[in-house]
Amino acid sequence: MKKIFKILGGLLALVAVAILGFVVWVQARGIPTYDPPKMAVQPVAITPARVLQGEKIVTAMCADCHLDRSTNALTGKFMNDLPPEFGKIYAANITQDKTHGIGSWTDAELVGLFRTGIGRDGRFRMVMPNFVHMSDEDVNSVIAFLRSNNALVKAQPIPSHEQEPSFLGKMLVNTVMKPTPVPAKPVLDPDTTDGVAYGHYLVVGRYKCYECHSKDFKTNNALVPEKSEGYLAGGTRLLTPTGQEILSRNITCDEETGIGDWTEAQFVQAVRFGQGPNGPLKLPMPKFTLMSPQEARAIYAYLHTVPKLKNATAEDGGGTVATR
Ligand code: HEC
Ligand code: HEC
Repeated sequence: MKKIFKILGGLLALVAVAILGFVVWVQARGIPTYDPPKMAVQPVAITPARVLQGEKIVTAMCADCHLDRSTNALTGKFMNDLPPEFGKIYAANITQDKTHGIGSWTDAELVGLFRTGIGRDGRFRMVMPNFVHMSDEDVNSVIAFLRSNNALVKAQPIPSHEQEPSFLGKMLVNTVMKPTPVPAKPVLDPDTTDGVAYGHYLVVGRYKCYECHSKDFKTNNALVPEKSEGYLAGGTRLLTPTGQEILSRNITCDEETGIGDWTEAQFVQAVRFGQGPNGPLKLPMPKFTLMSPQEARAIYAYLHTVPKLKNATAEDGGGTVATR
C-alpha cells in the first residue's frame, strides 16, 4: 500500500513539475517571434481599379478592427469585442505614417504578414487574421488602397498600443495560433463567370465567411477551410458591440435550421444590408455594403453546393447562448 502511495506521489510531483515548466515556458516566450517570411513580390502598381477593389475589401475585412471612430481612420483601437479572457489586444495603426503606421513597410513585408501572420520584425501578430486563400490580385488591391489618398489611410502619428495578452492568450499563441506557410504557388483569381467557383472563393478567400460561421475559431482549418468543424453551420461564440454573447448562424442550406428556405433576393438583402427575412442582423455580422449583387448571388449559389448540416442556433430556438 505504502509503495503505491509513494509511486503516486512521485507521479503527481512529476506532473506538477511538468505543468510548472510549461507555465514558465509560456510566460518566458510571451508572443513568439519567427523568421520573417521571404516573399518574392514585385512592387504593386497602384491603379484606380485596384484602389476601388481594395476599398471594397478593406472596408469589409479590415475596418471592423482597425477603424477608430474618433479619428475616422485606420489608426487602430482596443479590441473590445474580443472575449476578455484573452487579455487586452489592440489593432494597430495601419495609416501611412512612417513611424507609427505602415508607411515604411515594403509591399513584400505587407504580403508576408497577410499570408503568414508574421510581421517584418518576426513578431507573430495576434488576432490579426491571415489571408491564406485571398488571390494575389486581391492582396495587391488591398495594398494599393493602403497606399492611396483615401482619408481612411492618410498618415496619422498615433502610436499603436502594445499587446497585453493574458496567460491564456499567451498559451494559445504558443500552441494553437500558428503562422501559416507562404503559399507555394501563385493564388489565382477565381473564374467569376462560374457562380459556384466564384462563391467558394468569396466564402473562403476574399470575405472568409467560414471563419465566423463554422463551429468555433479554435477548430477552424486555415489551410483547408472546408475541413473546419461544422463548416458554415454556425455556432461560433462572438460578442456584440455592447458585450453580449451572440452565436453565428447556420448558413448551410438545411431547410429547418439553415437558410435552405431563403430566396436568393432575401439572401442578397441580408448579406449586403444586414436585413434578414425575420429582422435586422446584429453586429458583429458585417454589413457588406460595397459587395456587388453578383458577388452575393455567387455566394448563394455556392452555399447550395455545401453539405447541409443540422445545427439549431438561438434564432431556431436551439443552442441558446450560455450566460456567464
Ligand atoms: C479581427 C481583427 C482584425 C482584422 C479583421 C484585421 N486586423 Fe490587422 N491587426 C489586428 C491586430 C489586433 C493587429 C496587431 C497585432 C499585434 O500587434 O500583435 C493587427 C496588425 C496589422 C498590421 C501590422 C501593423 C504593425 O505595425 O504591426 C497590418 C499591416 C494590418 N493589421 C493590416 C490589416 C489589413 C489590411 C486587414 C484587412 C485585409 C486587417 N489588418 C484585418 C486585427 C485585425
Ligand atoms: C465577424 C463574424 C462574421 C463574418 C465574417 C460573417 N458573419 Fe454572417 N453572421 C454573423 C453573426 C454573429 C450572425 C448572427 C446575427 C444575429 O443573430 O443577428 C450572422 C448572420 C448571418 C446570416 C443570417 C442567417 C440567419 O439564419 O438569419 C447570413 C445569411 C450571414 N450571416 C451570411 C454571411 C456571409 C455570406 C458572410 C461572408 C460574406 C458572413 N456572414 C460573414 C457573423 C459573421
